[in-house]
Amino acid sequence: MVALTLEHVSYRYKKAAQNVLDGVSCRFEAGEMTAVVGPSGSGKTTLLSLLAGLDRPGNGRILLNGRDLAAMDLDDYRRQSVSVIFQAFQLFPLLTALENVCFPMELNGLKKKEAEVRARAQLEAVGIGKGKWKRYPARLSGGEQQRVAIARALSSGARILLADEPTGNLDGENSRNIVDLLRNLAHEGGYCVVIVTHDPTVAEASDRVYRMEEGRLRSV
Ligand SMILES: Nc1ncnc2c1ncn2[C@@H]1O[C@H](COP(=O)(O)OP(=O)(O)OP(=O)(O)O)[C@@H](O)[C@H]1O
Ligand SMILES: [Mg+2]
Repeated sequence: MVALTLEHVSYRYKKAAQNVLDGVSCRFEAGEMTAVVGPSGSGKTTLLSLLAGLDRPGNGRILLNGRDLAAMDLDDYRRQSVSVIFQAFQLFPLLTALENVCFPMELNGLKKKEAEVRARAQLEAVGIGKGKWKRYPARLSGGEQQRVAIARALSSGARILLADEPTGNLDGENSRNIVDLLRNLAHEGGYCVVIVTHDPTVAEASDRVYRMEEGRLRSV
């Protein structure tokens, strides 16, 4: 079971006068969906970038199952352990739904045929049926595009799913469906799901809620 632990993590952007993160300690567990809320500019996306291995903390440690990320190759970590889901979905517009999901697997060296078999299963698992596999993202609804993005995130085999405002571009019903899907992945699939959100209904649906404020993360 996967877990990410932060110990006294601080982070400051170059040339910034003060730390964005200032001694953040917490633990994100497999099997749970955790929400991170907080005012705009409080450092939520920054926190997610560190969890995603896109940057390293200035001080403190981030541990994956007890192993310090500082001692790991971040390229490997990003390829194998974490997947990020964005507000704007970020699908490739010139690739079909199926090709979008296949793409990272092929990059990782999987044969096209094998990638397609897995991609179909992932798409089915997130509720995108066969009739939509050959559609381009522009011909899918926002909720469907986010499902494809989640299928793509799952296709890497990563057990940690990090989502930055995943429902920010969706209406109420689509938003609830995506939240149900992510929570199901945590509870049934054993994924460690971390969602940054402004949406109180997303926070309510989460197992645990943290609030980011003045560089600190506190349990709500
Ligand atoms: N690349 C950067 N260089 C310098 N400062 C940055 C950079 N990215 C973000 N910041 C600053 O760091 C702080 C935290 O930004 P961050 O994007 O983490 O906030 P956030 O909580 O995600 O906000 P929002 O809810 O608006 O998305 C802000 O003051 C922001 O201006
Ligand atoms: Mg943000």
